[in-house]
Amino acid sequence: MKSELKVTVRNAVAGTDQDLGCLGIFVFQGERFEKADNWPFGKETLNLIRKILKRNDLAGKLYRETVVFPEHGPAPTMIILIGLGKRNEFTLEKFRGAAANAGKAAQSHREDKLILLLDPSYLQFDGPEVAGAAVEGVTLGLYKFSAFKTLDREEVRDLKFLTILVPERSRAKAVRTETAVAVKISRAVYLARDLISMPANELTPTVLAEKAQALTEKRDKLKVTILSAPEMKRLGMNALLGVASGSVQEPKFIIVSYLGGDEATAPLVFVGKALTFDSGGISLKPAEKMDEMKSDMAGGAAVLAAVSAASELGLPINVVALIPATENMPGGKACRPGDILRSMSGKTIEVINTDAEGRLILADALHYASRFEPAAIIDVATLTGACIVALGEQVTGMMGADGPLKEEIKRASEQTGEMVWELPLWENYHEQIKSEVADFKNSAGRPGGAITAAAFLSSFVGPYPWVHLDIAGPAWLTKGTAYHPKGASGVGVRLLVRFLRNRCRQ
Ligand code: BES
Ligand code: MN
Ligand code: ZN
Repeated sequence: MKSELKVTVRNAVAGTDQDLGCLGIFVFQGERFEKADNWPFGKETLNLIRKILKRNDLAGKLYRETVVFPEHGPAPTMIILIGLGKRNEFTLEKFRGAAANAGKAAQSHREDKLILLLDPSYLQFDGPEVAGAAVEGVTLGLYKFSAFKTLDREEVRDLKFLTILVPERSRAKAVRTETAVAVKISRAVYLARDLISMPANELTPTVLAEKAQALTEKRDKLKVTILSAPEMKRLGMNALLGVASGSVQEPKFIIVSYLGGDEATAPLVFVGKALTFDSGGISLKPAEKMDEMKSDMAGGAAVLAAVSAASELGLPINVVALIPATENMPGGKACRPGDILRSMSGKTIEVINTDAEGRLILADALHYASRFEPAAIIDVATLTGACIVALGEQVTGMMGADGPLKEEIKRASEQTGEMVWELPLWENYHEQIKSEVADFKNSAGRPGGAITAAAFLSSFVGPYPWVHLDIAGPAWLTKGTAYHPKGASGVGVRLLVRFLRNRCRQ
């Protein structure tokens, strides 16, 4: 993580201007700050805020920032009022965005410390989740991938400290716990974003495997096993090897397990598509936006980061990430349209389009997942352009047949603000991926493309609850959103971690 934001929690002392730094205060639209008497302001600061709100009835508009520099002392040197919109339309997700704006406003004024005043009861959340949301919003909103920038670096001065100021009456201990969790989760999202942003010449399957390996150094419950091509060959992973055959880069099958739970309990298995670059292969993609296909390993990055977070949080759960990693390139040994591959499951696949490579590598990974007799399997993949057509750039498509597992994902989606929407996976879609010459074909054309891809995957899943998440849209944002700068979003990380935490009731 590039900028290591240090987060602290402090109790506010009512009625005093106890801090002289840059102070962020959240305000609802059309409200006059009546409740502020218990808050840590001197009279003059309070009057100043009230005056601004009185004169500008739009200061509370969602995401609006109003920056003032009080002249009376002692007082905060800078106050950022951040609008939350209408109280009755308020959500935790909006709050993450508002917090992100506070962080950005502070940083753009070259402040290195931001104090955020939080009162969970004022914000109508009774638990400490608001504090977690503030940390996530500020941290995630400030992300920038600058590893390869050598010029203009002085432009960037990172926010270094974030203080969450809570009223004396609130349960600061719970807030502290939740902020510490949020810091770890944000770090995991940064890890995923960094990996996704890395160009394909720097992040090859081999380098990705090394990065996974490096994660285990500090943590003893985290184990990494890397399968190389000869081992894959021995296992019969010919669908994965077929995709890899067009590239000079060695494929790697990365297995990361975190066993924090009871030895006897079946693990959850996450499977993440990791094409370090997807050129389309012989069915070459058009040049426009092909550079973005360095992000075709976002599913792999998400599951890796999620398992890493689970270990950082010490969750009492067993979870395994399977990450088939390769390039899809049109080399002389590349697999061709019309080729038939014998997958690890024994089922044969006719390759109609070499650009439908994700489902090929996932076929072998999903089959491999059966070895763990998993409690559930969740795969995460930038699988189809069709999913972007169906749901737009910001939404993850969910497909699967297991009702309860889908409900768990929906719940995590609501809690994290990662938008997930279900697409149907009815029988008729399975008809469309049957081949005349092999068991299956890897493409059924454009209609219902996200779903026929899922139907294909389902054929390789054993008798275990399974859900498929197509993140082709949100993995790489062409337009930034409230707390996701454009580019790599790290989608899936917070969703999966929330899913795990819910399972642990934490
Ligand atoms: N990685 C792509 C899907 C993708 C497209 C992700 C755009 C993010 C943005 C995937 O491998 C692919 O090429 N899918 C094809 C499948 C088709 C050939 C059946 C697609 O969606 O066009
Ligand atoms: Mn492709
Ligand atoms: Zn792809």
